[in-house]
Amino acid sequence: MLILGIETSCDETSIAIVKDGKEVLSNYISSQIAIHKEYGGVVPEIASRHHIKNIATILEESLEQAKVTLDDIDYIGVTYAPGLIGALLVGVSFAKGLSYGKNIPLVPVHHIKGHIYANLVENNVEFPCIALVVSGGHTNIIYIDENHNFTNLGGTLDDAVGESYDKVARVLGIGYPGGPVIDKMYYEGNPDFLKITEPKVDGYNFSFSGIKTAVINYVNKMKMKGEEFAPVDLAASFQGTVVDILCKKVLKACAEKNVKQVIIAGGVAANSLLRSELKRRGAEQGVEVSYPSMKLCTDNGAMIAAAAYYKLKKGYVPEKNLTLNGIATLPIDKEIETQL
Ligand code: KG4
Ligand code: ZN
Repeated sequence: MLILGIETSCDETSIAIVKDGKEVLSNYISSQIAIHKEYGGVVPEIASRHHIKNIATILEESLEQAKVTLDDIDYIGVTYAPGLIGALLVGVSFAKGLSYGKNIPLVPVHHIKGHIYANLVENNVEFPCIALVVSGGHTNIIYIDENHNFTNLGGTLDDAVGESYDKVARVLGIGYPGGPVIDKMYYEGNPDFLKITEPKVDGYNFSFSGIKTAVINYVNKMKMKGEEFAPVDLAASFQGTVVDILCKKVLKACAEKNVKQVIIAGGVAANSLLRSELKRRGAEQGVEVSYPSMKLCTDNGAMIAAAAYYKLKKGYVPEKNLTLNGIATLPIDKEIETQL
């Protein structure tokens, strides 16, 4: 089964062609990071304009790389939620046009499910498993059973992990996106420099706002006093605290649910400390931890094609007139209610 995956929810325009949810024939990603960098974050209007400008060429490139034509495509998977509304609409409208024009059934894909299924492209994942979802907009611990039914065990009560990385980065003056830079700075700084109190949050919920504020308050205090400080120490203390909390909660969920497999999903899955620490601590508990390769951690079309494949396998029947309720704002816990 050949699926064309389209992703335009934020600042990456990507189109991929994936065979049977596993074999990536092409995964063309056009990143707009360099364009948005100078504004310190993604400017929605500019993002939409670049998607429009590039998407048709990206389709051509992707088909060429995969050495197929639209006539070979069985289904089109497209990110329909959540994300920037204007950006999503470019991908969805383009997908609808292709679908009508070439009579190819359309499969709407939730962006976070795309990140989760990115794990199945390259790795053999045992079910049931626990998915740790860590992105710019989400932080969730999700239980997935053998039949791919999802249960949300908990999520953030305030900021998402990626969001707090980006906010801390802004205060430290290291630009956008903050995650990859803070990740590098961790190894140059002292993680014990700033003692950050771990927020008391019940169950599998999280709170990152206080951790972010602890760093921001320290920076403001030092600036007010006119004293020097080393940003690497703050970056290290922040990352150390965040990764510790994520690891503890995920492994607690594994113990309680008797799960032996964890997958990490979302942009923050690229974090080197989260990958190594969760793997190390998981091994002590007999838990296997896997994550996608770096290219599949960023927003990309291949993960959307893979998620569309598993949605179809689970019995999704493409609709002729896709209405897409909840486009742009639908969080993963609401999407889970549909169980497809
Ligand atoms: O999944 P994603 O590409 O976009 C959303 O769907 O939200 O995630 C983007 C987020 C950004 O907040 C970025 O700072 C973060 O992922 N990120 C990282 C790393 N690479 C990207 N955070 C921590 N460490 C990284 N290495
Ligand atoms: Zn994403």
